[in-house]
Amino acid sequence: MKHDIVVNARGHKGTLERLEQEFSAIKLWETADRATALLQAAPRVRALASTGHAAVNAAIMDALPKLEIIANFGVGVDQIDLDAAKKRGIIVTNTAGALNECVADCAMALVLNTLRRFPQSGAYLRAGLWQKQGTYPLGTSLGGKTLGILGLGRIGEAIAKRAQAFGMTIRYHNRNKKNVPFAYDTDAVTLAKNSDVLMVITPGGTETDKLVNAQVLDALGPKGYLVNVARGTVVDELTLLRYLQEKKIAGAGLDVFEDEPNVPAGFLELDNVVLSPHVASATNETRKAMGDLQIENLHLHLAGKPVKTPVV
Ligand code: NAP
Ligand code: 8YV
Repeated sequence: MKHDIVVNARGHKGTLERLEQEFSAIKLWETADRATALLQAAPRVRALASTGHAAVNAAIMDALPKLEIIANFGVGVDQIDLDAAKKRGIIVTNTAGALNECVADCAMALVLNTLRRFPQSGAYLRAGLWQKQGTYPLGTSLGGKTLGILGLGRIGEAIAKRAQAFGMTIRYHNRNKKNVPFAYDTDAVTLAKNSDVLMVITPGGTETDKLVNAQVLDALGPKGYLVNVARGTVVDELTLLRYLQEKKIAGAGLDVFEDEPNVPAGFLELDNVVLSPHVASATNETRKAMGDLQIENLHLHLAGKPVKTPVV
C-alpha cells in the first residue's frame, strides 16, 4: 500500500517522479482548491514533502492534524515554521551533507569570479573591446588573502578546504568556537575587519536576519569583497547595493537574494558584482542525492524507523 503524502511545491523533476511512484502524492500546486484538497487529504496524510523555497506554516500543519513528518528538499529550513512543528511534535528533516561539496564549489567560483572578474572580462571580449581598448584591467589574486567564513558549519568547512588549496588563510565566526585550526573572531564585525573576503554561509531565519549590515560592510572596507551563498536575508541587501554603488566595498558575489526570484535592478547595472540565480546546489548529481535523502527520510519514518537527518 502506498502512503498518502502532500507535496507542497514543484521542485526537482527526478525527485518528483520518485515521489509520485513511491507514494500517493497530492501535489498542492496542481489542486484547484487548496483548502478542499487539504481537507480531503487530512484523515490519511502523515507526511509532507517540502521544497526549500516554499513556506510551510502553522496553518498547513493545522490543516493536516495527522502530520508526523515534514521532509525538506534542501538543507536550509528557514521557510518552515520550526517552532510550530516542534509544538505539534512534527519531525522536520533536511538534506544536510548531500550538497556540501557542490555548494562549496559554487562559493569558490564566486570568490574567483569576483576577485578575478572572469565574467566581466568575457563580456569585454564579446563586446569587441579587446581589439578596441587593449588588454583587460588587472584583477585581484586569491593567494595570500584571508577568507573570513561567517558560519563555519558543514558547507563552511568544505569551502575552507578549497580556499586553503588556493593559498588563502581561513578565519571564522560562529556563535560557538569550534575545534578547528582556524583563527576565531567573536563577532561578524571583527571577522570582516580581519578578512579580505567575507564568505556568508550561515542559515537564514530570524537569528541571522541582516547579520551583515552597514557596520560589517564598513569593517570589510573598500578593498574587501563579500560573497553570499547562505540566504538573502542574512545580508542587508539595499545597504549592500549602496556600498557597491559607492565603492565602499570592492565587490560582491551573490547566489541568494531577499525576495527571489526578484533581484533589485541596481545590482544588474553594476560592474563590481557577480550574480547567480540560487544555483549553488544545482547539479544533476547533487539534486538527485538531495532527493534520495529526502525520500529516504520519508520511507524511514513511515516504516517506524529513525530518520537520517532530523532538524527538529
Ligand atoms: P550548518 O552545518 O548548520 O552550519 C551553519 C553554521 O552557521 C554553523 O557553524 C553555525 O554555528 C553557524 N551559525 C548559525 N547561526 C549563526 C549566527 N547567528 N551567527 C553566526 N554563526 C551562526 O549548515 P550548512 O549545512 O553548512 O548550511 C548552511 C546554510 O547554507 C543553510 O542553512 C542554507 O541556508 C545555506 N545554503 C544555501 C545554498 C544555496 O543554494 N545557495 C545551498 C545549501 C545551503 P553556531 O551554531 O555555533 O553559531
Ligand atoms: C536549494 C538550498 O536550491 O539546500 C538549500 O538550503 O538553498 C538549495 O540547495 C533549495 O533548497 C531547493 O529548494
